[in-house]
This record gives sequence, C-alpha cells and structure tokens, in this order.
Amino acid sequence: MAEIGTNIATAKSLLCKGEVIGLPTETVYGLAGNGLNTDAVSKIFEVKNRPHFDPLILHSYSIDAIKPYLTEFPEKALILAKEFWPGPLTLLLPRNNKIPDLTCSGLGRAAFRIPKHPVALSLLKQLDFPLAAPSANPFGYISPTSALHVQKQLGDKIPYILEGEVSEVGIESTIIGFENNVATVYRLGGLDLAAIEECIGKVKVMAHSSSQPDAPGMLKSHYAPTKKIFLGNISDLLSEYKQRKTAVLSYRTTYKSAYLNYVLTENDDMHEAAKNLFSYLRELDESDADIILTEEVPDIGLGRAINDRLKRACVNEY
Ligand code: TXA
Ligand code: MG
Repeated sequence: MAEIGTNIATAKSLLCKGEVIGLPTETVYGLAGNGLNTDAVSKIFEVKNRPHFDPLILHSYSIDAIKPYLTEFPEKALILAKEFWPGPLTLLLPRNNKIPDLTCSGLGRAAFRIPKHPVALSLLKQLDFPLAAPSANPFGYISPTSALHVQKQLGDKIPYILEGEVSEVGIESTIIGFENNVATVYRLGGLDLAAIEECIGKVKVMAHSSSQPDAPGMLKSHYAPTKKIFLGNISDLLSEYKQRKTAVLSYRTTYKSAYLNYVLTENDDMHEAAKNLFSYLRELDESDADIILTEEVPDIGLGRAINDRLKRACVNEY
C-alpha cells in the first residue's frame, strides 16, 4: 500500500527511478511520472487503466523550463501563461520531438501547466524533466482532491503519495488551444472563462463528444460514480424515487426528505461548490444509499465547469 508522506526528497528519488507517485495540486491530485521517460509514462496509463489515445498534461515550474519542448509559443498563449501561471490553466502548445509520442498520444501539440501548489512547485523545481500527471483516479471515475482519495483507489499500485492539503480549486484545469491565433477552450475548468476573455478577448468553447479527435479526453461519460446518478429537479426526482434510499447532492437547498443530503455551498459561493464537488460525490457514492440525485448549479463563472462535470457524471453508461 502506498505510503502517504510529505517528503519531497523521497518523491524526487522515486520519480528519478521512473516510478509514478501521487502528487498534490490545487485543482485535483495527479498521478505523476517523468513525462520524458516512456517507461514511466506507460506505467501511468497502466495504473489509471487509461486508453493510450488520451494524452497527458505535462507539469513544470516556469515558462522558461517549458520552452525547450516547443516549436513556438503562440502569442495569446504566452499572454495567458504570464497572467495565470501558476494556476488552473492548461495550454496546448506546438511541441518538438523531445516529448515522446506516448505522452501526447502522437499529437502535434502537448498540454502544459504550471500548478499553483507549494509542494508540487517545490518538487518540480528540483527535477530536470516535466511531470506527466493525469488526475489520480481510475479512468472514468471521480477525480481525487485529497491524498486519502488517491490511496483508496490507486494505493496498491503506486509506492508513494506526496501529501498536500485538500485541493483548493477542486475541479481540473481549464484547457485552451490555439488555431490561427483563435483560442479554443477544450475543457471548462478551474479558471473562469470571464477572466480568460478579459485577457485575450472572446474564446470559442468546444462542445464535447465521445469521438472528438482534437480533444481525445473529453468523453461524454466521465467523473462517474458507481451508483446510478440522476440530474434534474431534485423535488421531482425525490418523489419519483421515494421508495429508494436517496443520496442528494444539491447546490444550496437542503432536502429534508432525502435519506442523505450534501449541500455544495450554503452561501452561493461557487468556489466553495467547486471545492466540495468531487469529495461530496465520492462520499455519497461510498454511502449505503441506493441512488444519487443531483441538480445543475447556476451556469455562471465556475458553475459552467461544475455543470459540465455533473452532466458527464450522470451519463449512466454501464
Ligand atoms: O487540473 C488538471 O489538469 C489535473 C492536474 C493533475 O493537473 N490533470 C488532469 O489531467 O486533469 P487528465 O489527464 O485527467 O485530463 C487531461 C485532459 C484530457 O482530457 C486530455 O485528453 C487532454 O487533457 N489533453 C492532454 N493533452 C492533450 C493534447 N495534446 N491535445 C488535446 N487534449 C489533450
Ligand atoms: Mg481526469
């Protein structure tokens, strides 16, 4: 079983040997390995049970440390990088062949991010390679926001989980790519679109589908709990399923008739809702309730990214 600890030297030594470990970031915990080492990258895919067509994000500590892997740094990308890194933003950048095809599924662009987490940054500064790190959950399941979440799901497959506090943002980074200087959002995430548009003007938001070659990871069903989960009007769902033990994940209203009820935020605070989303969903999934009922949150700010996760969690594909 993976040890949970705060020893950066241990983490570094394992990574240098080609091992993969749990890594805290401000968005969600990652499953990290040397992004330039195909053995380490293969291990990541294996541990996560992730298909090879779904590329990984490379994590680094500075813009200068990323440049050696690029053929160019698009102008708008650089503006965003300077404004929002370190932070919950991933940029798709044209890459050279120092990055193995396996890491970025053979695509012409690789995904890069500088995380805003003191432990992750301090580790990254001591490495002479970027860390490939997808979210540290089995493929398709709810993303982890604490070291314990990682241990529960992947603990028997990795040697170490570097511990930080609970992930502050709680949902994954916003992913942006550029075509002819036009910015496209491939995944809504922890960085609000309004902040991005204030910086570089209007951006295009890509709708996701289950077979989209440009954004291979944006599958329709994702973040899914094990129990059946339904999205809609909670009062209606509660009467429809009144014979069942219902676990309700609501935005700000309390539902007394639910068997269990977690409220994402009592004060209409979308950041708090994002921070609670995955851990609450996970706890409800681990409860003895029969089904989970949930509702969309207001579609503003981070609410859009939360709704994206909820909708995909509710595609009950078994
Ligand atoms: O917040 C985050 O981004 C977290 C933390 C650990 O940094 N990481 C994360 O990684 O969410 P992952 O692997 O769970 O999601 C990465 C997404 C996938 O949907 C993948 O398809 C997309 O990024 N992606 C990665 N590289 C890409 C590329 N070269 N082109 C298009 N999409 C890419
Ligand atoms: Mg993920």
